[in-house]
Amino acid sequence: MNTWFAPGRANLMGEHTDYNQGMVLPFALARGVTATVTRRADGLLVMRSKQMTGDPVVVDVAGLSPGSVRGWAAYPAGVAWALTAAGYPAGGAGIDIDSDLPVGAGVSSSAAVECSVALALCELGGFAIERRELAAIARRAENDFVGAPTGMIDQYAALLCQAGHAMLLDCGTQRIRQVPFDPVRAGLVALVIDTRVPHALVSGEYAARRAECEEAARQLGVPSLGALVTAAAEAESFGQAVKHALSRLANPVLRRRARHVICDSWRARQIADALDAPAGPGTFRRIGQLLTDGHASLRDDFEVSWEEADITVATARAAGALGAKMVGGGFGGSVLALVPAKRLAKVRAAVAEEFASRSSEEPGFLEAVPSPAARRLA
Ligand code: GLA
Repeated sequence: MNTWFAPGRANLMGEHTDYNQGMVLPFALARGVTATVTRRADGLLVMRSKQMTGDPVVVDVAGLSPGSVRGWAAYPAGVAWALTAAGYPAGGAGIDIDSDLPVGAGVSSSAAVECSVALALCELGGFAIERRELAAIARRAENDFVGAPTGMIDQYAALLCQAGHAMLLDCGTQRIRQVPFDPVRAGLVALVIDTRVPHALVSGEYAARRAECEEAARQLGVPSLGALVTAAAEAESFGQAVKHALSRLANPVLRRRARHVICDSWRARQIADALDAPAGPGTFRRIGQLLTDGHASLRDDFEVSWEEADITVATARAAGALGAKMVGGGFGGSVLALVPAKRLAKVRAAVAEEFASRSSEEPGFLEAVPSPAARRLA
């Protein structure tokens, strides 16, 4: 028997940039998922989740194929399938899952399930798999077995983030730069606010955005929109370079989608550079502004925000947050706000009151601390 933990994540910047080979800047949360596995000689996967009622889900590992398992159990089963497909036969196992992450809150509970299960099954099978390769296998479980066409940020964050750091990941080259991010030391709170509107990645909007980005890249003659980021960042004026590059897109919707991807990647780099430099008096004010700019871009250009998120961002800022943005795929989930510790109570109260006045469900609050990646617990 072995037990592995994998964290959820928040993302400081770079949404919908990962599948465009752009930049992302996630950090791991202290909360996450634990998976305990035991060997079974009968070739069955027997999957239980403490958060789900009902009988365990039982499937024959040899009979797994994409779409053959539905619901929460598709994630652990998908990992067994993806490991086997990659040449690491998973075999039968009892898999017990426990989680203190909210589901559908945009903090990547699914990748935390995949990565904790992947590590536990690797130990059970005696497979020594490098973490980047394991991230790719876990992602395959989600893309090909579950059928959610997501990018790479979530599994990379769960497996490769570091405590006290945010991780700048170039999804084109897979280069990683860990940058110090210690909000508490800076007198700040990275506050994750769950708007209680659940988001589901398998729904069509995510795939639709992805297709639009691919079409924009095709029309611009580049392999992916991320390819435009480096060129624009090196130009004398980033704004002019982006405008020039995008002027070749006749369709205004595609132009806005592409603008979001390029600018969010650029913002991720700007924040990483700011965190890497010695902090000055204006550092976090500037980072907060970049967060808010990122939210506006997701709302107006990429059109993946939702009403409760827009309200949360506006209310948190009015109550003293330095900046705020939605995190994850959108259409539900959480907002990340950067809040001076002395304004925390005020921000929480203002958001809670605003939700109450609209008869919305009470929001959830989580003071996020950049935490270590997945690890063995027992
Ligand atoms: C979801 C996906 C990620 C990423 C984000 C948006 O969380 O799983 O791959 O695309 O949305 O940044």
